[in-house]
Amino acid sequence: MSIDTRDSFTGKFGVIAAAAGSAVGLGNIWRFPYVVGENGGGAFLLVYLLFILAIGIPVMLSELLIGRRAQKNVFGAFKSLAPNYPVFMVVGIMGVGAAFMILAFYSVVAGWTLEYTYLAVGNNLLDMSSSELSTFFKEFSESKTGPVIWMVVFMLLTGAIVIGGVKKGIERYTKILMPVLFVIIVVLGIKSATLEGAGEGFAFLFKPDFSKVTGNVILEALGQAFFSLSIGMGVIATYGSYIQKKENLLETAVSVSMADTLIAVLAGVAIFPAVFAFGIDPTAGPGLVFETLPNVFKHMAGGYIFSVAFFFLLVIAALTSSVSLLEVVVAYFSEELGMKRSWATIVATVSITLFGLMAVFSSSIFNFFDYTTANILLPLGGILISIFVGWILGKLKAKEELSAHGGKVRMIGVIMIILKFIAPIAIGLVFLNGIGIL
Ligand code: PHE
Repeated sequence: MSIDTRDSFTGKFGVIAAAAGSAVGLGNIWRFPYVVGENGGGAFLLVYLLFILAIGIPVMLSELLIGRRAQKNVFGAFKSLAPNYPVFMVVGIMGVGAAFMILAFYSVVAGWTLEYTYLAVGNNLLDMSSSELSTFFKEFSESKTGPVIWMVVFMLLTGAIVIGGVKKGIERYTKILMPVLFVIIVVLGIKSATLEGAGEGFAFLFKPDFSKVTGNVILEALGQAFFSLSIGMGVIATYGSYIQKKENLLETAVSVSMADTLIAVLAGVAIFPAVFAFGIDPTAGPGLVFETLPNVFKHMAGGYIFSVAFFFLLVIAALTSSVSLLEVVVAYFSEELGMKRSWATIVATVSITLFGLMAVFSSSIFNFFDYTTANILLPLGGILISIFVGWILGKLKAKEELSAHGGKVRMIGVIMIILKFIAPIAIGLVFLNGIGIL
């Protein structure tokens, strides 16, 4: 794809659906509940929401504007916007590295969702008891053949969509399926909220207990915010480069962040009441969703249909996110290394799949990829992105890009203060404190 014939999203809803498609995924429905569970509930949620608002939205906005201004992949974007500051190209390199590492474990979890879709279709989930569900998850996720096969299938699906290009591939699917997912989660939330014993789950999720807050809990909340919004590694910058000048970037950043946060909180509402109602341990870790939700389906009228629809849509949500991750690598391979787009897609898909095998075979490698990307690479990328827009690109150019749609730029003063000072300092402090240095 040459620069002047760059592919682009077709309209406002297409842009928001594609960016929200990247943001909304396993991060909201699988990772968010398990990280909330491991980090004490309500207080974590509060810190998380604060990070989304004060840091997440400004960083997302920065990425969108970097991408759209440069009209390039992340690496090329920094190179062309600030040729005198080669240090920022590190964001591009870290981004491609992070995409590899995230996809490596993401595709494993997506593989689990494929297995659960398969089980749901065969009606094999609804007659397992709560303890059988837990044992099943443990045995399945620790086995090799099934998870490897499903992970490979998932990566092939991702590659197949990316090879189709942005408009035909990415946009077409996200536009239709995201709204359906939303409806299903709302229904699940209502069902879970009306279970007997749901109150304890609500208290866990919404009643903050600040004694649970430690440096690492705060870092986990920051990492989850970055991971869930898909920021800090160039996905949003890459999508930004496909957004037309007539779109309002601030509005896009705010809508996408709000949609993403809403879905995460709804997933929490669907899961925690059920966790307590069925006596599941909230700190169960990565298996939490898989062990909990089938219990809810069991108690629903139309549980079979809901279980199939839910896991199927979870696969789709995962796909629209994995597609955005693969797109970062493909855009880099094709625009910086000069590979043909189709060839770049094949090389990226195969190498990431091989890389991901490590995450199937070793749960410590899985955890290492999960922890390191969310809590280290993405926040560090966030610091550099904020500094770049705040100090290097500067207010004038930022303003020019943000008002390119022909409207007024609101809140530019606040946004610049956040980007120049608050975001880099806050992320830096949380990071150093979280890893125990400060
Ligand atoms: N935000 C995605 C999710 O929540 C995951 C993701 C992270 C995608 C980073 C792209 C970049 O599932």
